[in-house]
Amino acid sequence: SDVIQADAETFRPVPDIEGLPLSVHLHILGMTGLTAYVGLTAIAGMKEGDTVFVSGAAGAVGTAVGQIAKQLGASRVIGSAGSAEKVALLTQKYGYDEAFNYKEVNVREQLPVFAPDGVDVYFDNVGGDHLEAALDAMNDGGRIALCGAISGYNSTDRTQGPDNMANIITRGLKLEGFTLANYLHHAPAFREKMTKWFAEGKIAYDETVVDGIENTVDAFLDMMRGANTGKMLVRI
Ligand SMILES: NC(=O)c1ccc[n+]([C@@H]2O[C@H](COP(=O)([O-])OP(=O)(O)OC[C@H]3O[C@@H](n4cnc5c(N)ncnc54)[C@H](OP(=O)(O)O)[C@@H]3O)[C@@H](O)[C@H]2O)c1
Repeated sequence: SDVIQADAETFRPVPDIEGLPLSVHLHILGMTGLTAYVGLTAIAGMKEGDTVFVSGAAGAVGTAVGQIAKQLGASRVIGSAGSAEKVALLTQKYGYDEAFNYKEVNVREQLPVFAPDGVDVYFDNVGGDHLEAALDAMNDGGRIALCGAISGYNSTDRTQGPDNMANIITRGLKLEGFTLANYLHHAPAFREKMTKWFAEGKIAYDETVVDGIENTVDAFLDMMRGANTGKMLVRI
């Protein structure tokens, strides 16, 4: 069998929750869910009544962000994703109030249509065109949690910055990046809340599972291309 050997403090027991596969501890109940929770709470300071926009909304982090935002009292949660199927899932399964396909029409044109009253919190998984669109749509005092910038991960050219950075000044916006490793102390609070929401049947999740360690590279590339809904996992 496959084993890992390390100091005991490296490991944490995970509860076996009836009706759920243990793999949920690798995403919605694990680091991925915690990333969503930390970004919304500790970084963006999301408040009840906020309008929240999430990019990469149908991915592992994004599916968690929308649902957590709703549980924390967001008035309107808007998501963008790269296919019609994903957009349908966002509103039908993941509690998003509005969702759109950023591949159909430029995100900068679509976002104001779905957020006519502006955005208070933007959870950024994508960067680039999505960050630029959000900077246009942000309300005064808005907060942006910079979680990822996947639109630029594969680019070999220098990427262009948003052309509307001055909005940060005139609207008094706060942008803050974060790396989860520095926020692990939020895990107990997250686990307590998430376990309760789960038990109440309020949290949905998806996994895209690829079999065989030899398929790991293809699975990773497929994730970069958007072949996954929810967490991309490799089963070995
Ligand atoms: N700060 C941290 O500590 C931390 C921790 C974990 C993850 N992250 C970041 O969070 C983000 C999401 O990670 P994840 O693991 O949950 O991945 P994921 O969202 O499950 O998968 C990546 C998704 O990105 C979308 N995508 C790819 N290229 C895009 C583009 N050019 N524009 C818009 N969307 C694009 C694809 O969906 P579509 O079909 O919708 O295009 C794809 O499914 C990543 O940026 C990752 O680096 C940060």
